[in-house]
Amino acid sequence: MTTWYPICPWEALPPACGVPALLAAGPVALFRTSDDELYAVGGVDPFCGAGVISRGIVGDRGGEPTVASPMLKQVFSLRTGACLDDPAARLPTFPVRRRGGVVEVGLP
Ligand code: FES
Repeated sequence: MTTWYPICPWEALPPACGVPALLAAGPVALFRTSDDELYAVGGVDPFCGAGVISRGIVGDRGGEPTVASPMLKQVFSLRTGACLDDPAARLPTFPVRRRGGVVEVGLP
C-alpha cells in the first residue's frame, strides 16, 4: 500500500525546477517540468554520491523529460530514472501527485 507524504505547496515548485526532500527512503528530488508534469527521483547522483540531483537542470531529450546532474552533467530520464549517458546507472523513481495545493510523494 502506498503512503503519500506531503512535500511542499504546489506554488513552492516553479516550472522547470526541483526541490529536495528527505524521506524514509532517503533523499528525493522532486521536479515540475515546464508543462506541469511532476516527477520524483532519488536525490543522490550515483556517479559521485552527492545529494545534488534536485539542483539539476530540467530539460528533455527527444521528448523524454530529463534532469542533468549539476556536477558531472550526466542526464537522467525523469520518467524511468535511467541514466541516458550510462546504461549502468539509474536513479530510483517514486510516485508523485498533486492533491489540492500540495505535492505528495508516495512510498510503499
Ligand atoms: S559532488 Fe559530484 S562530482 Fe563532486
